[in-house]
Parts: sequence; C-alpha cells; structure tokens
Amino acid sequence: MSANPAAIDALPFAGPLAVRLCGVPLANPVIAAAGTCGYVDELGDAFDLRGIGAVTTKSITREVREGNAPWRMWGIPGGMLNAIGLANLGVDRFLAERLPKAGRIGCTLIGSIAGHSIEDYVGVARAFEREASLPIVELNVSCPNTADGLQFGEHPAALRELLRAVRPELATTKMLVKLSPNVGDIVAMAKAAVEGGADGLTLINTVAAMGIDVETRAPLLSRGTGGLSGPAVHAIAVRMVHQVYRGVARDANIPIVGLGGVSTWHDAAEFILAGATCVGIGTALFVDPRTPLAVVRGLEAWVRRQGAGSVTELVGGVRL
Ligand SMILES: Cc1cc2nc3c(=O)[nH]c(=O)nc-3n(C[C@H](O)[C@H](O)[C@H](O)COP(=O)(O)O)c2cc1C
Repeated sequence: MSANPAAIDALPFAGPLAVRLCGVPLANPVIAAAGTCGYVDELGDAFDLRGIGAVTTKSITREVREGNAPWRMWGIPGGMLNAIGLANLGVDRFLAERLPKAGRIGCTLIGSIAGHSIEDYVGVARAFEREASLPIVELNVSCPNTADGLQFGEHPAALRELLRAVRPELATTKMLVKLSPNVGDIVAMAKAAVEGGADGLTLINTVAAMGIDVETRAPLLSRGTGGLSGPAVHAIAVRMVHQVYRGVARDANIPIVGLGGVSTWHDAAEFILAGATCVGIGTALFVDPRTPLAVVRGLEAWVRRQGAGSVTELVGGVRL
C-alpha cells in the first residue's frame, strides 16, 4: 500500500497514475532515462512530453567531455553495448544553452550529475542548486574515481563519502542515487546511499559486458568493455529492485526508480510490483521513441484491472 495514500489527493495531477517521487508530483511514473534522450527536450520531437512523468538529462560533468572514440554503441541480441564515456558539453554550457528549455517541456526535468572526483560532483551539484532550480537531481555513481580508479558505485564506503559531500550542496533539491548493478551486494550499496542522504534510489545502470567481432578479433566497442542495457538486463534489474525494496527502501520510506530493459507496460508493471514507485525507459527509446506513451497507456489499464485506485497501491505488491 502507498506510504501516504492521503497525499495523492493533493496532487496537481489527476488519475490513477499520478505519483510523487521524493515528494515531487509527477503526472505518471514513467521517466525517460539518463543518456538515452538527450539533454532536455529532444524526445519532444517524438511526442508531447506532458504524456510522461519526467525526463532525465544525460549525465552532466564539470568539464566538457568528448567521450570515447567510436564505436561506442553496438546493438547485440537482447540489448545494446555502450561505452559513451560521459560525452557532454559540461555544466556551464548545459546551464546556459540547454536548461532554459526546461520550463517548456511540460514534465519534470531530473538533472543527472557525474564526475571523477568528489570535487567534480560537488561542483556540478552546487551549480545545479544555484542556477537550475531543478526539483530532483540523480547522481550517476558508475564512474571511476580518478584518485583510486575504483567506481564510487561499487564500494559502500566510497559511496557514503561522496554522498555526504554532495548532500549539503542540494539544499532545495532532492537527491536520487543511481546504483550500479556490478556489485555483489546491492542491498549494502543501497544502505550506504541512504546513510549518505539519498532521498531516492534509481536502479540499475548498465551491466558490465563485452562483445567481440570474431573476424577482426577486435572488441565491438573501442574501449574494449562497456555496459549492457535493454531487455537482456530486465530480470536482473527486477531482482535488484525487489531486494532493495525489501532490504532497505520500504522501511526507510525511500522511493525507487526501476530501470533496465523496459520496453512494454508489462516490464514496467513488474518493476512496480517489485517495489518501484517510478519506472525508467532507456534503450527502448532507440527502438521506438514513443515507447513511454505505450507504457503509460498499458499501465493505466493494468492498474484498473487490478482494481486499484492508484498505482501507488501496487508498489511492492508482488505475492511471495
Ligand atoms: C547509450 C546510452 C547512454 C547512457 N548514458 C547514461 C548517462 O549519461 N548517465 C546515466 O546515469 N546512465 C546512462 N545510461 C544508462 C541508462 O540510463 C540506464 O540505466 C540503462 O541503460 C538501463 O536501462 P535500459 O535497459 O532501459 O536502457 C546510458 C545508457 C545507454 C544505452
């Protein structure tokens, strides 16, 4: 059941799919995922963005980043390999050139932050807090720390330290922490994120992976290894959302954004039953950028068939 069903009545959005994410009202739980839909309004070329709950920016870093050399995306059976390398125009240009469009997209914009040191994240968070007034930011912690080469998102102590430095910078902004699936104990990482001050958790980022061209004997991606996304990772992500919901999020009253391999309403409904309040869509946008609208329509019908007044009643509702 919803943690606070009465709060739904006060939402500015009507209907069974209206939700709150970290207290922020969204028209519905469907979110376009970081790095798969441009900076702000690009997905608006495919459909009216008022039809979804939120768009997440691609991850923004302190400096301009060109990213890795081609090939850095490659389609494989069941999904996609990528090693984009955080290509983006840097926080200053993002704020000056792209952010002004945020007010016109008709849904919530979630700002994604990445970096290679604590100072990087703090710098972008500070700039977002001062100049962007976004209701929510998401920390992409699947980035190696240049100081020790280890990923923030793969070590609980490093993650806690990072979040404790960033959290005070976000005085008026809710902080989602996006977890890496490339760990042995996802619940330990979620606990570290909550201890570090996360207001919500997004999971999962891509699964570490590799493909090889057997004729040239070269890796499919220029960097060698990369991240797998798409339908192949969905069941892994559902398992992780379920474990994190039961292991920490439910009792801490922390919302989860379930992400990984959603291409139909059915995939999204699985995430909700596993414990997700919202559902992200990434790789499926490359197949059909209107996927989110079909997911919204399917979820609405499913919520009604389940006899629920609100989708929030179904969060974590898997029958074990
Ligand atoms: C081409 C591509 C670029 C991505 N860029 C980012 C990024 O900038 N920041 C981030 O947090 N996640 C990034 N991701 C990860 C996605 O947001 C998502 O976590 C992952 O792909 C799993 O969801 P999906 O299977 O629906 O794509 C990227 C994924 C892809 C495929």
